[in-house]
Amino acid sequence: MTDPAAPPWQIVPLAERPDLVMPLAEALWQFWHPVFPGKTVDVRAASLRARTNRDRVPVAVVAVAPDGLALGTASILLDDMETRPDLNPWLATVFVMPGQRGRGLGGALCAAAEAAAWRLGVPRLHLFTFDKRGYYAGLGWQDLETVDYAGRPTAIMVKDRPA
Ligand SMILES: CC(C)(COP(=O)(O)OP(=O)(O)OC[C@H]1O[C@@H](n2cnc3c(N)ncnc32)[C@H](O)[C@@H]1OP(=O)(O)O)[C@@H](O)C(=O)NCCC(=O)NCCS
Repeated sequence: MTDPAAPPWQIVPLAERPDLVMPLAEALWQFWHPVFPGKTVDVRAASLRARTNRDRVPVAVVAVAPDGLALGTASILLDDMETRPDLNPWLATVFVMPGQRGRGLGGALCAAAEAAAWRLGVPRLHLFTFDKRGYYAGLGWQDLETVDYAGRPTAIMVKDRPA
């Protein structure tokens, strides 16, 4: 019997659903191309494919609806901010499909990606955000610095592996 309290999605490694790389790449391009015009759909698809690992960084997770469609994604990456190679690895590409937001999926995707990092022995994660500082603070992330990046004031935040 289906558990009525279970969330209406499953979060799995992207390695389990490589067929979802293209729809995710298209959605990521749609949302971010004004900021990162060089990251075309093909570039994003290649980058997502490189994250279809289970036992090493880079690694991506995907949220899947009961009908099999992709609802969102999150990744653990190396060198997400090329101006800060001293900070690694990063929580990155946190994305929930428009129309699916505001019901905890973003938080669940972050938690799943973070759990993958802790499992792989990562002691500290970083992220950068232009406009979601408050959102990540609510998920337990702490401020590290504010920098200029891609022409915008950008918060760098950190989270340590739980003791
Ligand atoms: C950011 C994003 C992943 C959140 O996904 P989501 O599934 O809507 O997130 P959740 O349901 O877990 O959390 C939503 C909550 O965060 C809050 N929130 C959203 N943006 C916020 C912000 N900038 N500051 C503070 N709180 C914020 C919402 O008000 C909501 O609060 P509520 O639950 O009290 O109503 C989603 O909006 C998204 O994909 N945005 C586009 C891509 C993006 O900006 N990614 C982050 C890059 S750094």
